[in-house]
Amino acid sequence: MTLRAVVRGVGHKLPDRVVPNAAFEQTLDTTDEWIRTRTGIERRHFAAEGETTADLAVAAAEAALRDAGMRAGDLDAIILATSTADLTFPSAATMVQARLGMSGGFAFDVQAVCAGFVYALANANALILSGQARRALVIGAETFSRIMDWTDRSTCVLFGDGAGALVLEAEDGTGTVDDRGILATDQHSDGRYRDILYVDGGPSTGHTGYLRMQGREVFRHAIEKLTATTEAALAKAGLNSGDVDRLVPHQANIRIIQGTARKMGLPMERVVVTVQDHGNTSAASIPLALSVGSRNGWIKPGDLVVTNAIGGGLAWGSVVIRW
Ligand code: UT7
Repeated sequence: MTLRAVVRGVGHKLPDRVVPNAAFEQTLDTTDEWIRTRTGIERRHFAAEGETTADLAVAAAEAALRDAGMRAGDLDAIILATSTADLTFPSAATMVQARLGMSGGFAFDVQAVCAGFVYALANANALILSGQARRALVIGAETFSRIMDWTDRSTCVLFGDGAGALVLEAEDGTGTVDDRGILATDQHSDGRYRDILYVDGGPSTGHTGYLRMQGREVFRHAIEKLTATTEAALAKAGLNSGDVDRLVPHQANIRIIQGTARKMGLPMERVVVTVQDHGNTSAASIPLALSVGSRNGWIKPGDLVVTNAIGGGLAWGSVVIRW
């Protein structure tokens, strides 16, 4: 018997407010045409005044629990990937824990920026395989609109708010790649590149700060590192890109998604793309795409699904899941 962390449920929450590219033409020297052709983004959702990362996370978590047919009391752990926790501490995960009415188990945040959900899944998998949790709720939730410099056209048109969640449960598998659940994970970071994507605030500065990015530099690393980590994760499971039914990449830029798929030899029909509707929602982008993809029938039970992401740190990684 081989223990596996199997996906039991998935859900998401997007704020009601949808902002099309054209809205930025009023205040910035930019165009819908530039944003669309350079990034693939057409619109994004922004949280309402007072709507928090925890609000979005709770709604996504409730949807995932409903989908799994479980209640919060059934969970042993909550892992929440975010770089926009509402307060410095306590963690957003403990706020979600309280609001779900879960008083047992444990909850914590993972902060690996856009790679956060991949890191959170890898952590949840490790907790489940080591017997420290049987059921884990893994959430990616962000309100990047709170850390945007609205005068910087090179960043503020790229990001959006939202949340997605998965419920994982331990199940005995046979040890083959036909097992449902997480089959392999791969994680990396390289802090030498910390200056190409960061927030210029925090406790050391006395203000929350704004996201700063050298987009071209991040782009330069993205396709190569994403392809390498995805192929490494597949190889750990004894698989290769020809086995992939659905690539569910971090949704930052359609050109990065297409470039990675091309490098892996995957046709775009096998790639789940939501960047046009969500923009870059950092750690929320993969669970949002998994939830939308599963709801729309693009991802079906039994599919071999591979996720990958790269972001601030730099931090990057990939997870292979039999859905
Ligand atoms: O999720 C975390 C990881 N982040 C990413 O994966 C982001 C990776 N980077 C990217 O997606 C792209 O680099 C961007 C979308 C950020 C930028 O696209 P690019 O094709 O790399 O453009 P660029 O930065 O090389 O800029 C090209 C031009 C510049 O003008 P000059 O210097 O050529 O005159 C920019 O000033 O486009 C200009 N520009 C804009 N023009 C109109 C930058 N932002 C805008 C804008 N509207 N919003």
